[in-house]
Amino acid sequence: MQSQSLTLLLTSLFSCAVWAHPDETELTDKDTQGFASIGFANTAPFEKTSQPKCKAFPGDPSWPSELEWSRLNESLRGALLKPLPPASVCYPTSPNFNNVSCNFLFTNASRSTFYFDDPVSVLAEWPQGLTCPRSRNPAGNCTQGGFPEYVVNATTPKHVQLAVNFARNKNIRLIIKNTGHDTSGRNIGAGSLSVFTHFLKGFEFLPNYKQPGGNYRGPAARVGSGLQVWEAFRETERYNVTLTAASCLTVGSYGGWISGGGHSPLSSKYGLGVDQVLELKVVTADGSYLTANPKQNEDLFFALRGGGGSTYGVIISAIVKAHPPTNLTIASFNFVLGSTPSNGSSSNPTITNSTTFWLGFNEVLAFGIPVVDAGGYLWTNGLQQGQQTVMQVQVQMPGKSPAETAAFVQPLLDELQNLGIPVVIPILMTTLYSAQTGAIGTSPGSGIYLASRLFPRKAYEDPTLFAAAMAAARAFVEEGYTFHGLNMAPTLKAAGFPAPAGVNPVWRDSVMHADAFAFSQINLGTATDEQVLAAHERMNRLMEPLKAATPGGGAYLNEADPAEPDWQQSFYGTNYERLKSIKQQRDPWGVFWAPTTPGSEAWKVEGAGDVLWRQNGRLCRV
Ligand SMILES: Cc1cc2nc3c(=O)[nH]c(=O)nc-3n(C[C@H](O)[C@H](O)[C@H](O)COP(=O)(O)OP(=O)(O)OC[C@H]3O[C@@H](n4cnc5c(N)ncnc54)[C@H](O)[C@@H]3O)c2cc1C
Ligand SMILES: *[C@@H]1O[C@H](CO)[C@@H](O)[C@H](O)[C@H]1NC(C)=O
Ligand SMILES: *[C@@H]1O[C@H](CO)[C@@H](O)[C@H](O)[C@H]1NC(C)=O
Ligand SMILES: *[C@@H]1O[C@H](CO)[C@@H](O)[C@H](O)[C@H]1NC(C)=O
Ligand SMILES: *[C@@H]1O[C@H](CO)[C@@H](O)[C@H](O)[C@H]1NC(C)=O
Ligand SMILES: *[C@@H]1O[C@H](CO)[C@@H](O)[C@H](O)[C@H]1NC(C)=O
Ligand SMILES: *[C@@H]1O[C@H](CO)[C@@H](O)[C@H](O)[C@H]1NC(C)=O
Ligand SMILES: *[C@@H]1O[C@H](CO)[C@@H](O)[C@H](O)[C@H]1NC(C)=O
Ligand SMILES: *[C@@H]1O[C@H](CO)[C@@H](O)[C@H](O)[C@H]1NC(C)=O
Ligand SMILES: *[C@@H]1O[C@H](CO)[C@@H](O)[C@H](O)[C@H]1NC(C)=O
Repeated sequence: MQSQSLTLLLTSLFSCAVWAHPDETELTDKDTQGFASIGFANTAPFEKTSQPKCKAFPGDPSWPSELEWSRLNESLRGALLKPLPPASVCYPTSPNFNNVSCNFLFTNASRSTFYFDDPVSVLAEWPQGLTCPRSRNPAGNCTQGGFPEYVVNATTPKHVQLAVNFARNKNIRLIIKNTGHDTSGRNIGAGSLSVFTHFLKGFEFLPNYKQPGGNYRGPAARVGSGLQVWEAFRETERYNVTLTAASCLTVGSYGGWISGGGHSPLSSKYGLGVDQVLELKVVTADGSYLTANPKQNEDLFFALRGGGGSTYGVIISAIVKAHPPTNLTIASFNFVLGSTPSNGSSSNPTITNSTTFWLGFNEVLAFGIPVVDAGGYLWTNGLQQGQQTVMQVQVQMPGKSPAETAAFVQPLLDELQNLGIPVVIPILMTTLYSAQTGAIGTSPGSGIYLASRLFPRKAYEDPTLFAAAMAAARAFVEEGYTFHGLNMAPTLKAAGFPAPAGVNPVWRDSVMHADAFAFSQINLGTATDEQVLAAHERMNRLMEPLKAATPGGGAYLNEADPAEPDWQQSFYGTNYERLKSIKQQRDPWGVFWAPTTPGSEAWKVEGAGDVLWRQNGRLCRV
């Protein structure tokens, strides 16, 4: 017994010691000597009045010379890249032209991590301006468009500090790209220097962490901000713990996910992504590398947890809670409104009575309340598929066994049976939450267009408002949108964490985040400005009744309409003014900028279009 536990102890000490500890190399004053462009902010007094109207742009006299860029590269020890768009390999006029590489983009690239490892690619193509689309026989030439001019492939805080100092001192637009999942153009920008955080990896298990100035004591993990969900899960298997993370395995949990809020199937049980964070390491606009926790730099600790990515600094790493291993049992079924009824009961019955279908739809969504109250997550999709209308349902219950989950959903199935929707015991799948697997590759697309709404419990539980909300949801589906519901209740109690966070407070009383996807409505790859405007107006028209039925609600900024009206209120709620003032205090230079982040209304991208802002123009003060 004794020798066995000694072996275990040694094994765990050993694995903690050898496992990639994030590289902590920092920039010192000494490093900056003799090269003013990389000096810290305190070495160059700031005069707000003498700030140029626009950021420098390639070709401008103020744009750094090749020589200066190569000096920056020397300071970075070679981590500066000047990447062409990935599809440049398909363009015969590009210096990068390579038919084999081009073929790869149409074959295996989407099944690999190629696009995540690429320094400029982002998943939503439209904000880039589509100046170098993937094509086997492209017309025209490939140009940089909204892709950055230079990229720092960061693996240390020092790399990030150098990028931030250089961009600030030389008045260059700075952007941050991690995995590129953001669909609103917040990870891209013409004429910019990009901090590519994807390779800020590292994972360190902290079995007995005590939070400074907080009240958390227990298992935690220090994670690099570039870690993707699938990589984090590989570690949680190893250490027999659970970290909450986005349901999509390729999202970056510690970049955009935590800075925008971060929901997951464990949200009713453990709160949002922001609630996992016990401490952050961050490079701020003045070039400092700081620790933010409830005791130090509390303003940053507040703002970086939900107040928007790419705004207050570059997160290098986070210390997050490690929960006990948690199984997730999933009960899933569909029902279909079609013209040919199916025979008997099944987990996918087709019915023909539309009134019945929509009563069933409402019944399922009403079941969101019992689900969240039991610590669960209800995932639904209402959509048209050909001539049919489909309701897809997954009841996801963390910590419940298959038998418990079956008993739990039975009242809903009985209710549906009574209505005439013969759903039987659904498929129950139990997995260790972290053991979920799926493809880790993908490829960019012209871009989904969606709008979000957070439903306050008070509205959801009011029969009149609920009926109005369901009518609004039905209208979306009948007009060809996918209505995607995620019921969860990330209350302060579930958060179990008294530190206030910058995330929209509306989340705390919400019982559903719903998205309406305009898959069938618009192709942002080819749409004209007029078509974009029309699509936006159409979506807004359908959102109006949903908003009216959810008074006091908001929207989830990470999965929302980039042209959301009154976005300050919808995305940040009552935290907006405080977030904006933290932004102004921490970044009076406007080093960081991304659309719909606090304070971003002070700037605009030239030639961006009037509705959805493309990022392939120069950034100027309004
Ligand atoms: C297929 C898909 C599934 C999704 N599933 C979920 C889900 O289950 N739950 C959920 O909550 N959200 C989900 N999202 C939304 C997702 O959380 C956001 O897109 C999020 O912003 C992605 O963050 P990222 O760092 O991976 O991506 P990026 O696009 O690289 O970054 C997003 C934003 O954060 C900024 N940023 C990135 N890293 C840092 C950093 N280190 N410091 C400061 N700023 C940084 C970027 O500049 C950008 O503004 C999903 C999105 C997609 C496309
Ligand atoms: C930076 O230096 C490295 C190594 O010397 C080199 O490979 C790379 O091409 C340089 N980057 C730029 C933009 O010149
Ligand atoms: C490129 O590869 C494709 C597919 O293999 C082939 O059909 C085409 O002829 C090649 N083009 C050139 C210019 O080599
Ligand atoms: C593409 O992927 C398939 C299946 O994973 C593999 O068999 C094949 O060798 C790959 N081809 C290339 C060119 O990488
Ligand atoms: C494309 O590039 C080629 C070679 O650089 C140039 O001759 C041509 O004019 C360009 N075409 C367009 C449409 O810009
Ligand atoms: C970026 O850095 C990572 C880690 O060092 C490396 O694996 C990767 O190849 C680099 N990317 C480029 C394009 O140089
Ligand atoms: C994992 O942790 C749980 C509780 O936290 C414990 O009961 C279990 O024995 C552990 N399993 C392993 C393989 O260490
Ligand atoms: C998770 O489910 C599996 C399979 O049902 C079971 O063997 C295991 O004990 C469960 N683990 C926990 C932590 O509940
Ligand atoms: C429908 O049900 C009847 C009676 O139970 C059965 O005989 C028939 O095979 C079923 N048809 C289909 C298509 O399942
Ligand atoms: C459809 O269902 C509703 C509600 O149960 C019922 O009132 C109506 O008569 C049904 N319509 C048809 C055509 O069966």
